[in-house]
Amino acid sequence: MANISCTDIVKAYGAHPVIDGLNLEIPDHQFVVFLGPSGCGKSTMLRMIAGLEDVTGGTIEISDEDVTTLPPGERDVAMVFQSYALYPHMSVADNITFGLRRQSVARDEIDRRLNHVAGLLGLEPFLDRKPKNLSGGQQQRVAMARAMIKTPKVFLFDEPLSNLDAKLREKLRTEIRKIHLSLKTTTIFVTHDQLEAMTIADSIVLMQSGRIEQIGTPDEIFERPASRFVADFIGTPAMNFLQAKISVDPEGLLATAGEIALRLSPEMFPSLKDGSDVELGLRPSRMDLCEPDATNALTGHVVLVENMGSEGQIITEMDGQEISFVTKEFRRLQPGQTVHFAIHPEHIHVFDPKTGKSLRSPDETL
Ligand SMILES: Nc1ncnc2c1ncn2[C@@H]1O[C@H](COP(=O)(O)OP(=O)(O)O)[C@@H](O)[C@H]1O
Ligand SMILES: [Mg+2]
Repeated sequence: MANISCTDIVKAYGAHPVIDGLNLEIPDHQFVVFLGPSGCGKSTMLRMIAGLEDVTGGTIEISDEDVTTLPPGERDVAMVFQSYALYPHMSVADNITFGLRRQSVARDEIDRRLNHVAGLLGLEPFLDRKPKNLSGGQQQRVAMARAMIKTPKVFLFDEPLSNLDAKLREKLRTEIRKIHLSLKTTTIFVTHDQLEAMTIADSIVLMQSGRIEQIGTPDEIFERPASRFVADFIGTPAMNFLQAKISVDPEGLLATAGEIALRLSPEMFPSLKDGSDVELGLRPSRMDLCEPDATNALTGHVVLVENMGSEGQIITEMDGQEISFVTKEFRRLQPGQTVHFAIHPEHIHVFDPKTGKSLRSPDETL
């Protein structure tokens, strides 16, 4: 059992709080990702959970035991950082087993565990090498093996893949996920990369300025962003935003922005009134080419076509605004051309322009 509870956590350097009354419950076995822009407090939270940093206020519990003032060595957590920090004069095997040898664990037990983690991480061929004779990805795997050989209650990863090239990052991300499926150790993984978070997490904790913006599964965060900040942070290409005014007519709700008029689902936004000012969010991947008379058809001029391989992003201009959408049919589009594309009412997000909060009814299911 290794659930983690953070209650009313405050962290201040001097007078300025960088974590501002944060509450979080992480159930046993979960793979949780702390996601957010650089400087939002992800590493600070992780280091407080690890015991590498004191809390200014609040309590941290691991397996229902208050560890707030325990030193790192007594918390039974293992941490992997962005920099691997391996001992250069030791072999891979000695690097991995260093901690266990210091704890005087029996030699055959050490060998058994070494073989197990080396197998999980594909490190068997490299055990006798020195770190300098390994690639960056292999060195990062050694750092992970060094953490995993301890079979801790909790794994804490702080941007462990950020120094690797894109291809290797993708490969190790999959390996980390597979290892979690077999070991099921409660894990917190920090990243600023939303795609990495979406692909690896059971649950994402999206942070901004020392606070939690939203906690949810990758699907919830993507499909039901609680705020404009979340909607903007998640998804590539990024969401389009439009200032609009609501009118209520016999057919339901209409949002108008200059020449653009979009039907909304009244069931999704029961609080909207005639004359409400709103901000609309339209995901490029939720729009596609349509007939000119289709529901919610938008008409724009193509500014740019970006080839993304199997799909293309089309950046259009309409009524002085740029709006982009994604289509598989991108190869037949050219700059200057007029295009019609549409979004289904149930995929339109609506935010309060003052608070940035989503105006979608909380009662309504995905
Ligand atoms: N030792 C420190 N002294 C003062 N400010 C710090 C210190 N460590 C971190 N900070 C500040 O705390 C905030 C959060 O930092 P951090 O947790 O490292 O962010 P993240 O990991 O999300 O990029 C930042 O504004 C950072 O400048
Ligand atoms: Mg950090």
